[in-house]
Amino acid sequence: MDKLRIQGERPLHGDVQISGAKNAALPLMAASLLTDQPVVLTNAPELMDVRTLGHLLTGMGAQVAQEGASIRLQADAITACVAPYERVKTMRASVLVLGPLVARFGQARVSLPGGCAIGARPVDQHIKGLQQLGAEVHVEHGDIVASVPRGRLKGARISTDMITVTGTENLMMAACLAEGESVIENAAQEPEVADLAAMLQKMGARIDGAGTSRVRIQGVDRLHGAEHAIVPDRIEAGTFLCAAVATRGDVTLRGCVPEHLDSLLDKLREAGATLTSGADWIRVQADAMPGGRARAVSARTSEYPGFATDMQAQFMAVNCLAQGAAHLTETIFENRFMHVQELVRLGATIAIEGNTCVVQGVKRLSGATVMATDLRASAGLVIAGLAAEGETLVERIYHLDRGYAGMEHKLAALGANIARVR
Ligand code: EPZ
Repeated sequence: MDKLRIQGERPLHGDVQISGAKNAALPLMAASLLTDQPVVLTNAPELMDVRTLGHLLTGMGAQVAQEGASIRLQADAITACVAPYERVKTMRASVLVLGPLVARFGQARVSLPGGCAIGARPVDQHIKGLQQLGAEVHVEHGDIVASVPRGRLKGARISTDMITVTGTENLMMAACLAEGESVIENAAQEPEVADLAAMLQKMGARIDGAGTSRVRIQGVDRLHGAEHAIVPDRIEAGTFLCAAVATRGDVTLRGCVPEHLDSLLDKLREAGATLTSGADWIRVQADAMPGGRARAVSARTSEYPGFATDMQAQFMAVNCLAQGAAHLTETIFENRFMHVQELVRLGATIAIEGNTCVVQGVKRLSGATVMATDLRASAGLVIAGLAAEGETLVERIYHLDRGYAGMEHKLAALGANIARVR
C-alpha cells in the first residue's frame, strides 16, 4: 500500500489550481443514465472514485471515456439496471444510480451500501422518497430492489426526515422524468446539488429552487444530452487553505468559487490569517499572524452553508498548533473523529467528549507514522504532517486518492517536501 513521506515545517508558498468537485462529478455522471444521448463533463477531476463510478456505469452497458479533465458518457445501450455489492461496497455514492435507473427504466437492483468508517450512513430517505414517487421498493438479500408498477413515476411532495445530500440528488434526478410536479422540502443546499440541477436543466429538466431548501421539479417525458463544466471542489480548496495556515505560508488558490467557502474563510480570518479573494481565486497569507501562530477557533459542523463536516478534520489540524483551546463539534456523522488518535501520535492534545473534541493547541507537532482511516481524516493528517517537526509517514493513502487529484504533486509545487512511497 502506498504511503506519503513528509518532511514538515516548510511553509507553503505559491499558486495551486483547484480541480472539479468529486461530490459534483459523481451525481453528474449518474445523471447521464437519464438520457440515451451523450453527456460531456469538463473540469472533471482524475480521481479513484470517478473511475469507480465509471466502471459501475460501463458494467451496466453505458459508454464512459475520460480523457484528462473531460468525461464523455452515453447510456444508450443499458443492459443491466444493477449496481452489484462488489462495486457499491467500495463507494457508497454508487447509490446515486438508483434514482436515474428507476426514473428511466422503471427498475433497479442496487446493493444496499454497508456502513462506512464515519458512520452507519443509511439510505432510508432515498428509498422513502422513491416510494413516494410511486416506486415499489424493498430490500432483499442485501439489495435495494425497485420497480414502477404503473410504468412511470408520479410527481409527489417529498420531505426528507433530515437533510441528505445524495438523497436530495437521487430524488431530484428521479423527479425529472416523473409525471407531473414534485416538491422536495428540506432539500440539501450544497453547491454540488445546485450544480447537478444546472446540468439537468441543460438536459431539458424543469427545476426551480435548487440550492435552497425547497426544490420544485416539473417532470418531462425525456431528457437530451448536454455538456457541463463541473463546479470547483470547495473541499479541496478548503483543504489547501488549512494547509497554508498550518504551515504559516502564503498560497493563492486558482479556479475556485470563494463564496462556496464563506464559513471556512470566516473561521480562518478569526484564526488570524489574511484572506483576499476575487471571482475565481483566494489568497491566504498566514506568514505574519499575530503572535506568529494561529489563534484557536471553535467550529460546529452543519449542513451547507454552515461549516462543512468534510472540513472538520482539516480544521482540527490547524487548531492543533493554535494558541488556546478550540471546541470542534461534529453534528452530521456519528463517528468522524478517527483522525484524533492519529493527531495525538503527532503530539496534539485533544480530548473527545461525545460529539465534541477539545483541542488544546501546542507549539510544535513532531513527525511520526500515522494511519489514514477515511478520505478527509487522511487530509487532516497530511496537513498536520506538513506542519510537524521531522518526518511523518501517512499510511493507507488510498483513502486520499479517492478524493484528491495528485495532492502530493500540488503540495510539492507549493514547496512541501512530500513524496509517495510504494
Ligand atoms: C455527502 O454524503 C457527501 N458525499 C459526503 O462527502 C458528505 O460528508 C456528506 O454529504 C455530508 O455533507 C457525496 O456527496 C458523494 P448525507 P451523503 O446523506 O449524501 C444521514 C466526502 O468526504 N442519512 O447528507 O451520503 C446520514 O447517516 C464525503 O467527500 C440518513 O440517516 O451524506 C448522515 O448522518 C464523505 N438516511 C446525514 O444523514 C439517509 O437516507 C447526512 O448524510 C441519508 C442520510
